[in-house]
Amino acid sequence: MRPSTIAIDGPAASGKSTIGYHLADCLGYLFLDTGVLYRAVTWVAQDRGIPVEAEDQITRLGEDVEIEVLPSAATDGRQNTVKVDGRDVTWEIRSPRVERDVSPVAAYPGVRHALTKRMREIACKGYVVMVGRDIGTVVIPDADLKLYVVASAGVRAQRRYMELREKGKDVSYEQVLAGIHQRDRIDSSRATAPLRAAADGITVDTTDLSVETMFAEVERLVNQYDAVKCEQGVRNESSRV
Ligand code: DC
Repeated sequence: MRPSTIAIDGPAASGKSTIGYHLADCLGYLFLDTGVLYRAVTWVAQDRGIPVEAEDQITRLGEDVEIEVLPSAATDGRQNTVKVDGRDVTWEIRSPRVERDVSPVAAYPGVRHALTKRMREIACKGYVVMVGRDIGTVVIPDADLKLYVVASAGVRAQRRYMELREKGKDVSYEQVLAGIHQRDRIDSSRATAPLRAAADGITVDTTDLSVETMFAEVERLVNQYDAVKCEQGVRNESSRV
């Protein structure tokens, strides 16, 4: 038996999306990087000139704006195609401007409530790999397999820096590292659904792992799923005694 719902959480640039996309591809599942929903709401707010402090207005956007997350058809490195009101914003939601405001937007309880509802509608159909910060703890706490992907801040900043340089962006490593620290702080300390590992999640530390080793490790965890479930069942049985 294979896990039907896989929840992957972790801080920015820990490798969680790379892992999630790979697993979804191997298993033939839907891949959803839920960060794009928070990014899309942030992008619309900026596009409409709504300041990031306007919590009520931004919450309404989270409830009403049409956001489509589609399997990627293009070959430009995207994992999903993201459309807002029919417009393709896949790359625009990755801009430094959106990056700057997305954590405060994602901290608004009303925005989280609205987007969590959308995520659950997708998750309940199964055969999905969902990636984010609170997927295993809040969005689908009954996910079949929960991974918590971590890496040192230095390594995460280096990865993000290389990605940005490859796209021709003029940023320094120090700027990227500062941004990573800032987002970690906001994502982990917010009152609603802060970033943390699920009690029954499996932590995967990718700091010293090559992409190949990382993939081999998570494939092993998926293949071991039956054994892990059995072991947890036995543990639950014994704790009931
Ligand atoms: O993973 P990302 O960098 O695209 O996420 C963008 C922001 O959204 C980041 O501040 C974390 C937040 N986020 C969240 O709070 N909960 C999720 N399930 C996914 C992302």
